[in-house]
Amino acid sequence: MSATLIDGNALSQQLRGEVAQRAAALTAKGVKPGLAVILVGADPASQVYVRNKVKACQDAGLHSVLEKYEASLSEAELLARIDALNKDPSIHGILVQLPLPKHIDDHKVIEAIAPAKDVDGFHIASAGALMVGEVGFKACTPYGCMKMLESIGMKDLRGKHAVVIGRSNIVGKPMAMMLLQANATVTICHSGTADLAAMTRQADIIVAAVGKRDVLRADMVKPGAVVIDVGMNRNDEGKLCGDVDFEGVKRVASHITPVPGGVGPMTITMLLVNTLESAERVAG
Ligand code: GUN
Repeated sequence: MSATLIDGNALSQQLRGEVAQRAAALTAKGVKPGLAVILVGADPASQVYVRNKVKACQDAGLHSVLEKYEASLSEAELLARIDALNKDPSIHGILVQLPLPKHIDDHKVIEAIAPAKDVDGFHIASAGALMVGEVGFKACTPYGCMKMLESIGMKDLRGKHAVVIGRSNIVGKPMAMMLLQANATVTICHSGTADLAAMTRQADIIVAAVGKRDVLRADMVKPGAVVIDVGMNRNDEGKLCGDVDFEGVKRVASHITPVPGGVGPMTITMLLVNTLESAERVAG
């Protein structure tokens, strides 16, 4: 048996097409969805990410602004820019690319973003809204993973056991909340878990979000399980790979996401969805 691939590029293309249509309709009503992306410093990976985000906005007909600052920008100056963007009616989403230089407090910066424009879903108000099932912005990567599950008919997860490996604020924790909201029984595993394989072998759905190669191997997966790989690592040959031993696990799983071409493109897609929804909320 070989697992069916969940193609993040194909699903992204379809969802971005839908975003483009809704954005055009909103623009015709006088509200063009707008995203501001702030990059502080010259981290090479961050430069690629922000370029991709801005390009995705342009392709979908969204307004986008990229503000690039020297690494020497002060925290007060950054907070002042966020305050101005919070008040700017042409901007519906604000994203501050992480990591920030060491002299700037990430937490303070994220909390300065108006929750109504927090399209990354990182603000405590967004995390809290997810926790209690209120309207808010969902963190883009786990939101993308939920869309991938939906795309294979797994929308209501009643009766399913989902195991999330990783407990980050950006992926693991919100992922667990979204799975719970979809009625799954959820287990969160992490570096303090005594027997990871014993947990994952019980799972119908496994989400690996650790940032380490080969965290999930074939002998840890129940035949027919669905495997979502959030990892983005390099193997010994320097090739991109996820947290999952893809070649091994694909022989056991029913569905699996590849790396690259799986969760990665979905993160930016959900950023577009959140920005569009923010503008739709304003337009009423
Ligand atoms: N750095 C790496 N991933 C992300 C992301 O999704 N959002 C932001 N703001 N920074 C990041």
